[in-house]
Amino acid sequence: MGRWFSRFFKELNYRVFVYSRKLETADNVARALGVYSGSMEDAEDSDIVLVSVPWDALAGTCGRLGEKMKKGSALVEISAVKTGVEKLAESIPGHLGFLSIHPLFGPNAKGVKGQDIVMVLNRESPWVWTLLEHLEKKGAKLVIMSSRNHDRYMACIQSLHHFAILSLGYALKTCSRKAGFEEISTRSMRATVRNIRSMQRNLDTIAEIQKNNPYSREARELFLRIVKEFAEDKPEEWVRKLGKTKI
Ligand SMILES: NC(=O)c1ccc[n+]([C@@H]2O[C@H](COP(=O)([O-])OP(=O)(O)OC[C@H]3O[C@@H](n4cnc5c(N)ncnc54)[C@H](OP(=O)(O)O)[C@@H]3O)[C@@H](O)[C@H]2O)c1
Repeated sequence: MGRWFSRFFKELNYRVFVYSRKLETADNVARALGVYSGSMEDAEDSDIVLVSVPWDALAGTCGRLGEKMKKGSALVEISAVKTGVEKLAESIPGHLGFLSIHPLFGPNAKGVKGQDIVMVLNRESPWVWTLLEHLEKKGAKLVIMSSRNHDRYMACIQSLHHFAILSLGYALKTCSRKAGFEEISTRSMRATVRNIRSMQRNLDTIAEIQKNNPYSREARELFLRIVKEFAEDKPEEWVRKLGKTKI
C-alpha cells in the first residue's frame, strides 16, 4: 500500500520520499516508482508522512516518526485494524495532525475514484485537511466510523469473508484432487478461483486482520455455526432460508 500511496502523491505533483528499513529496498522501489529514496530523517521536513506497516509495528513506527515531524504536518496511518488507535493518537505530539484511515481497497486498485475509505480518527492540522480534500476531489467516498464500529464491521466484510473464501479454496482443491479431475470448470467456479487467488496475494494483511481484529474470532465462529446448521439441515430447508434472505 506504501507504493500505491507513493503513486497517488506523485500524481498530485508532490515530492515523494519512500523509506524502508533496508536502504537497497528503498532505492529499488523509489527507482521503479520515479520518486526519491529517503530516510527516517526526511520526516523532519515532510508535510505528510504516511505509515504503511504491519499492525504490530505501527505504534513504534508512528512514535519514532512523530518525534521528528514539524508543527502542522500530518501523520497518517492506514491500518486495517483500528482497535487501540485512540491510544496511539494520544502518544503522538499534540502539534501534529493525526489521521487514521482504512482504505477499503488493495494495492492493485487503479485509482481512488468510487472507492470507500473509512476515517476513524482525525486530529486536525492544515495538512490533514489538504489530504482529505485530495481524496475527496479524486472521487473517494469517505465514511466516518468509531474504531469499535469499524472493527465490528470489518470482522464481517473482511475477517469472515476472507476466512470463508480461503477455506473454501482449500476444500475445493482437496475435493477436486480426490475426484482426480482438475482440468475443466464452470464460469462461476472460475470467478471464485480468481477471487481466491487474489486473496492469496494478500495473505499477510489477511492474517493480520484475523489475529488483531478483536471481533474476528466471533465472526469465524458464527460462520462455523451456520455452515454446520446448513450441513445438518435437509437441503430443502437451507435452500428455503436462502430464498427468503436478501444478501
Ligand atoms: N494490503 C491491503 O490490501 C491493505 C489494504 C488497506 C490497508 N492495509 C494496511 O496497510 C498496511 C501495510 O500493509 P501492506 O499490505 O501494504 O503490507 P506490505 O506490502 O507487507 O508492506 C508493509 C511494509 O511494512 C514494513 N515493515 C514490515 N515489518 C516491519 C516492522 N517490524 N517495522 C517497520 N516496518 C515494517 C516493510 O518495509 P521494509 O521491510 O521495506 O522496511 C513493508 O514494506 C497494514 O497496516 C495493512 O493493514 C493493507
